[in-house]
Amino acid sequence: MFSILRPYIFSLDPEVAHDLAIKSLKFNILPKSIFNVDEEEMLETSLFNEKLPNPIGLAAGFDKSAEVYNSLFKFGYGFVEVGTVTPKRQFGNPKPRVFRLEKDQALINRLGFNNHGSEIIFKRISNNLPDGFLGINIGPNKDTLNKEEDFYSCLKKISPHAGYVTINISSPNTEGLRDFHDQKELEKLLIGINKIKKENSLSKPLAVKLSPDIDDNEISKIIELIIKYRISGIIVSNTTEINRQNLNDVKKNERGGLSGQPLRDRSTKLIKKIYNQTKGKIQIIGVGGVDSGKAAFEKISAGANAVQLYTGMVFKGPGVVKDIKKDLISILKKENLKKIDEAIGINA
Ligand SMILES: Cc1cc2nc3c(=O)[nH]c(=O)nc-3n(C[C@H](O)[C@H](O)[C@H](O)COP(=O)(O)O)c2cc1C
Repeated sequence: MFSILRPYIFSLDPEVAHDLAIKSLKFNILPKSIFNVDEEEMLETSLFNEKLPNPIGLAAGFDKSAEVYNSLFKFGYGFVEVGTVTPKRQFGNPKPRVFRLEKDQALINRLGFNNHGSEIIFKRISNNLPDGFLGINIGPNKDTLNKEEDFYSCLKKISPHAGYVTINISSPNTEGLRDFHDQKELEKLLIGINKIKKENSLSKPLAVKLSPDIDDNEISKIIELIIKYRISGIIVSNTTEINRQNLNDVKKNERGGLSGQPLRDRSTKLIKKIYNQTKGKIQIIGVGGVDSGKAAFEKISAGANAVQLYTGMVFKGPGVVKDIKKDLISILKKENLKKIDEAIGINA
């Protein structure tokens, strides 16, 4: 079905196509059964102590305002992350701000956290509770005077409905956000977050989403803080600002974050480094260029407990989740592994 519709969808501006997808998913009329796979039990796993039917998640940025997560669970995702949610509603950067690089199987976006804001999103989720494990990704407004306060207010607001909360310090499209990768800045933020958690008795697991553009020096300092302040997970990674020179598409120099195939190896290498330094103490969600069972297995065997994808669904359609699951099951059989958990970190 997607291969028939693809030329029409790809003739549209990427953001128009995305808005159309959100509008159609709001009807939530798809039968779940068409995306079922046999032997999915082999893929059962757990993330932050929650049992999941499979380790394939939808990455943040597709359902920014939490409008269609229950339709997305029907595609067969084991978990879905919504957001980035900011305290106040914001429209983001001027359009056009999403670019399809067909020749590179990649996207560049500089959306800038367009979303409906934490108040509306909280009410929306209250009125339509999630049918699966829902992550909520939070970040600061562009015009805020205090980025830390924005994280705290979002955390307080949306925690009750989250399976886990992602602290997004890695979008390249919000000025100064990546400064939280600096040891001092990150420590200040995590101290504040722990204080808010304590004062408000919040107990939801937290994950920090990292940039793929950090160097080895920074990695160990970040891990140290993540362990010290009892963060449960690391999401590796957000989009990259570098790696443009080898791309083929004419749009390769658009400003923004690059996702999809050109990010695949870069994020897998970072997963390996983090896994080798944490040895299972922190759970890792691997993201970047996952669009096949092979790509998902690469990340899991590098040390990821679960994976997420976004760009892969843009190029291959919603059926990509079912295809990844089928492929993963065949790979497990070939490798003589009975359960996906046995694959975590075997090639790290
Ligand atoms: C159009 C678009 C919007 C995104 N928006 C967000 C966002 O709001 N918050 C976030 O943490 N990541 C966002 N991301 C990053 C993805 O969650 C993911 O980390 C990245 O795209 C790499 O995965 P992929 O190669 O499977 O797309 C966005 C990505 C794309 C392509």
